[in-house]
Amino acid sequence: MPFAHITGWGMFVPEPVLTNNDLAKIIDTNDEWIRDHTGIRERHIARETEFPSTLAVEASLKALAMANLAPTELDLIICSTSSPEYIFPATACLIQDQIGATKAGAFDLLAACSGFIFAANMAAQAIRSGSIKNALVIGSETLSRFVDWKDRNTCILFGDGAGAFVLQASEKPGGILSAVMHSDGSGADSLTLLGGGSRHPATELTLHEGKHFVQMDGKAVFRFATRVMGRAVIEALEAVGMTTNDVQWIIPHQANFRIIETAAKYLKMPLDKFVINVEHYGNTSTASIPIATVEAVQKGQLKPGDKVVFVGFGAGLTWGAMVVEWTGPIPTKKQIHPEQYRLFARLRRFVRRAIRYIESLYSRKEV
Ligand code: UT7
Repeated sequence: MPFAHITGWGMFVPEPVLTNNDLAKIIDTNDEWIRDHTGIRERHIARETEFPSTLAVEASLKALAMANLAPTELDLIICSTSSPEYIFPATACLIQDQIGATKAGAFDLLAACSGFIFAANMAAQAIRSGSIKNALVIGSETLSRFVDWKDRNTCILFGDGAGAFVLQASEKPGGILSAVMHSDGSGADSLTLLGGGSRHPATELTLHEGKHFVQMDGKAVFRFATRVMGRAVIEALEAVGMTTNDVQWIIPHQANFRIIETAAKYLKMPLDKFVINVEHYGNTSTASIPIATVEAVQKGQLKPGDKVVFVGFGAGLTWGAMVVEWTGPIPTKKQIHPEQYRLFARLRRFVRRAIRYIESLYSRKEV
């Protein structure tokens, strides 16, 4: 049975930064409160021209370059996102087109902030089954579009960004060792975005009622997160006969410093074994785990051979954890420049549009 290794990783955040002091100019809040209650200092906010697919494309091309894998070699793309570009088509299909991954099946996965772990697990299972060899797993968000900038309970929390992993089959043991996924829909109403779906299609009334904004019972989500995070880590470790003593790093979903601190206490692990960067990005939902991972590798924290646990929680309610033996790129002599594939993809789109235009001219003549 092949193993599923993480052989490439990339992240991208929009350039504009919104600090706590900037927020204090538009709502009744202050830097001290936000830092004390969440650990967040600043977050990146997408420009009007940036969307989950555009952020994801940048992160994905970096991940593919790292793995030395051409987009055309991808069999599968899963984009986990809580802020999809449309209800359909899937954001994953937009990414597939923009990077020129012509052979890949692509779909979105919605499990809110746990989505990246769920998506990586699904891709790993497909690799282990032998049905595919190469997968791209993405977490990408522009949640800033869905927060009410007048609601200080939520708008201080979220940031935009994307992270991506390339997963590849290899006979060498390692890579994704185990994963657990859990859901409890009875807590669904504690974190919601109700407007725009088929139950509350967009109307003037839904807009007036603010149904197109994130609504959250912060305390309920806090209690839930601190209850499940530590347990999920233990469960995923036990599945491969490991304990926290075998682990070099925990990379948690970056929602709130205090939640991570509580999980560390539960696990009786020092906080310096946790990769934490919520200070600079806020809660980027599905993107937070891959972004923190990329930074941990860049800082020289996460190294080949290390055992790392990813753990996340979010709306649904959902939560999950994944144990990984970090390997890094599979050695190869080829030098892939994924950027070139983006140019081919643009050219292909241009030609397709031109053909469609010419066809429409002919069909008008026939009428
Ligand atoms: O990916 C999952 C996403 N969600 C989460 O992870 C959220 C989990 N929950 C949390 O992180 C925390 O519950 C929050 C950060 C959202 C809130 O922190 P808290 O310690 O639970 O504060 P609170 O809601 O109990 O509010 C305490 C006080 C209230 O004032 P009163 O009623 O005591 O006078 C709030 O009105 O702080 C007030 N407050 C604020 N003050 C300044 C709430 N938000 C703010 C704010 N600035 N931004």
